[in-house]
Amino acid sequence: MTQADHSGRSPKAPRAADATDTGLVIEGLTLSIGGKRILDGVDLIAPPGQVTGLAGESGSGKTMTGMTVCGLQPRTARVVGSIRFGSTQLVGASAHTLNGLRGRQIAMIFQDPTASLHPMLSIQAQLTDHMRYHLKLSRAQARDRALELLEQVKVPDPAGALKRYPLQFSGGQLQRIAIASALACRPRLLIADEPTTALDVTVQAGILHLLRSLCDDLGFGIVLVTHDLGVMSALADTIAVMRDGKVIEHGSRYDVIRNPQHQYTRALIESLPDHQPIAPDLEETGPQASGGESDGR
Ligand SMILES: Nc1ncnc2c1ncn2[C@@H]1O[C@H](COP(=O)(O)OP(=O)(O)OP(=O)(O)O)[C@@H](O)[C@H]1O
Ligand SMILES: [Mg+2]
Repeated sequence: MTQADHSGRSPKAPRAADATDTGLVIEGLTLSIGGKRILDGVDLIAPPGQVTGLAGESGSGKTMTGMTVCGLQPRTARVVGSIRFGSTQLVGASAHTLNGLRGRQIAMIFQDPTASLHPMLSIQAQLTDHMRYHLKLSRAQARDRALELLEQVKVPDPAGALKRYPLQFSGGQLQRIAIASALACRPRLLIADEPTTALDVTVQAGILHLLRSLCDDLGFGIVLVTHDLGVMSALADTIAVMRDGKVIEHGSRYDVIRNPQHQYTRALIESLPDHQPIAPDLEETGPQASGGESDGR
């Protein structure tokens, strides 16, 4: 496994990152269901203030890795290894510990934004109930924070949006609202599992760039699962490639795209369709051709 020598990003300090916060550190994570090994010694590091891209073929274990971090793996699964989140060991943690982290310090967004939103509740109720319960905010404080969140995720007319219901929004706007809901309790880690796959291609890039800028501005870590290696090469700090339940390669976006160590990664990059170009700053003919670092975004 190559490690992240340089991230290929400018050294802008994230606002909320804490130097003592080690983020997510997964070591030797193995998960079996009914004797079938689904994760086979996964190693992955996702530091705060960074986007860690997770790529790999269908069925390689990307979603299962994210679900296991959240303690949402199937009940019959046998899990061994280590998932440290800051100073907390999540493998074998009590339901009480996991419930305290999930949705609060570790948030997750999915391919389908309607999966995270209740169709019969107004956006205000969805955003504020969560905050009033977890952050013990008053009704007025929670409404102010809901407005602030909708502004952060760039939903037009935030005050009007609070009064509306999920069915009254487009898919792209709903994913922005789902991101606002995920950020409501100021998580330290956001797991975004194919957050744009269900969306119109014209809005996909906007959502992914939003996640990147929120990570920069707010300092939380993101594990971003996407099949779009082209977008990942532009947005992620590091890229991990999974295959058959293992992370076979993890390095800076520059190293993984320009100097992949694994034949499978090379094949993945070579198979990129024309509509998924790699980041322009990582093109061989670009400023990176001599192997320097880039700002790139
Ligand atoms: N609830 C389950 N019970 C048993 N096996 C499961 C369960 N969920 C997933 N699997 C298996 O675990 C393996 C990894 O699945 P996972 O959903 O993590 O893949 P993935 O990398 O996210 O794929 P995709 O890119 O298609 O989303 C697959 O072989 C899948 O069939
Ligand atoms: Mg998946």
